[in-house]
Amino acid sequence: MSEARLGVLGSGTGTNFVAIAEACAAGRIPARVALVLSDVPDAGILARARERGIPARYIPPGPFRTKLDEAAERAYVSALQEAGVQWVVLAGFMRVLKSVFLRAFEGRIVNIHPSLLPSFPGLAAWRQAWEYGVKVTGCTVHFVDAGVDSGPIIGQQAVPVHDDDTPETLLQRIHQAEYELYPRCLAALVRGELEVQGRRVLWRRPAKEPPGHG
Ligand code: GAR
Repeated sequence: MSEARLGVLGSGTGTNFVAIAEACAAGRIPARVALVLSDVPDAGILARARERGIPARYIPPGPFRTKLDEAAERAYVSALQEAGVQWVVLAGFMRVLKSVFLRAFEGRIVNIHPSLLPSFPGLAAWRQAWEYGVKVTGCTVHFVDAGVDSGPIIGQQAVPVHDDDTPETLLQRIHQAEYELYPRCLAALVRGELEVQGRRVLWRRPAKEPPGHG
């Protein structure tokens, strides 16, 4: 099987990108990051990609605050297609994808969200969870559909909320969970071990692996 090519989109510091790139380099994900794109010209994720010799580009998002305009979606799609990307990996990309993008990569876009969906979709999910007073939160990797944080769930990792947590200390713990969960889900995805049945994503691991492996 030829190595899968990932395209990573992010708006922020890019720590999840680093976890993914390191997992690829270590062979834990049988893939490589072929391209990193950002809607923020000085986003940390671009610098972190370039440090690793991975092509990284800022593509202007257009006039809207929460989505790409249609011309921008076309530019993102073209760049990803030219790089031979099979899987689009959202890692802190803070815009909703619309039909041009979704059609071009249907069923091939995944996202990580810092809560146990369907609780706390949207912005600053860790803060929403802390303010609500839940005792357990976490992170979710899911396929991207036309809704906000609403696609079929691939994997989740729980994180306890401690009495002395601030939103910031809680976020740090969620990040640590994200760095484990996202590479594990991406490995299963590119190995073809996930089967989507409607909203349910089933993990079909090869029989030789022990239960709970990975
Ligand atoms: C991550 O915590 C990710 O879950 C979140 O942005 C952060 C990006 O951090 N994504 C969302 O909130 C999407 N709705 P990073 O740039 O350091 O990987």
